Amino acid sequence: MEENVGLFSRELLNRLAGARRVAVLTGAGISAESGIATFRDPGGIWERFKPEELANIDAFLENPALVQAWYSHRRHIVHSAEPNAGHLALRALESLIPDFVVITQNVDGLHQRAGNRNVIELHGNINRSYCISCNRYATEEVLSTGEEVARCPHCGGLIRPDVVWFGEALPEGAFARAETAARRTDVFLSIGTSAVVYPAADLPLLARHEGAYVAEVNVQPSAIAPLIDESVLGKAGLVLPELIETVRILRNENRPA
Ligand code: OAD
Repeated sequence: MEENVGLFSRELLNRLAGARRVAVLTGAGISAESGIATFRDPGGIWERFKPEELANIDAFLENPALVQAWYSHRRHIVHSAEPNAGHLALRALESLIPDFVVITQNVDGLHQRAGNRNVIELHGNINRSYCISCNRYATEEVLSTGEEVARCPHCGGLIRPDVVWFGEALPEGAFARAETAARRTDVFLSIGTSAVVYPAADLPLLARHEGAYVAEVNVQPSAIAPLIDESVLGKAGLVLPELIETVRILRNENRPA
């Protein structure tokens, strides 16, 4: 039986203590403690709203007012939220690791607000909106004119959030950069994701195939748990500060005198 130090295996701590490159994939679970509902947990977004009714281009074209209103509601929640201890721990980890990247499926921008500098957004960002006719980005004012449907001031086109909807491709280049990071990394951490949405869920498996040590942090084992090295069970906001503090101490001890 492998030796454990608290919640973590000795192997995970040693790998992180010696890592030059670390890649992290995050999902809705890391923002749960900031008060943003996840998608698939009980009470999650997809229990209350069907993705096929809201998060796709056909639904939007059929009822733009409804979809815009739903995203306006979600934007409001995101604007009122603050990065939590899990986000801040990843900011601290970035300062310890020479080559560190956060790959996120979240659209809330909380990693950037926590101070992480190298963030790849796979599913876009709810804080940006653009016109589906002329592709220009829309300002806050355009979204809050009070009209039933927000339209582009330049061409009259419909304004949509800059997030990936069902059936749409990921932003150009984002997945390629994420794949490169996963292939090269020494340790891959999958945090607060159910790992059922592809291609994001391929990344931890790709990293493991290429030799990385792959661990997840989740309140329950995710869909990929049997295929990776380790599942650390607990809330990201509690587990990550403890993990990163332990790694910080180990890295200091390892530093040549
Ligand atoms: P899900 O809602 O599918 O999964 C959230 C995961 O977080 C679950 O595995 C929970 O067990 C875990 N979790 C909940 N609270 C947690 C906490 N405090 N600490 C750690 N883990 C916790 O969300 P995602 O995996 O992000 O895509 O979903 C992936 C994609 O599905 C989303 O980006 C979205 C959705 O369709 C698009 O909109 C394109």
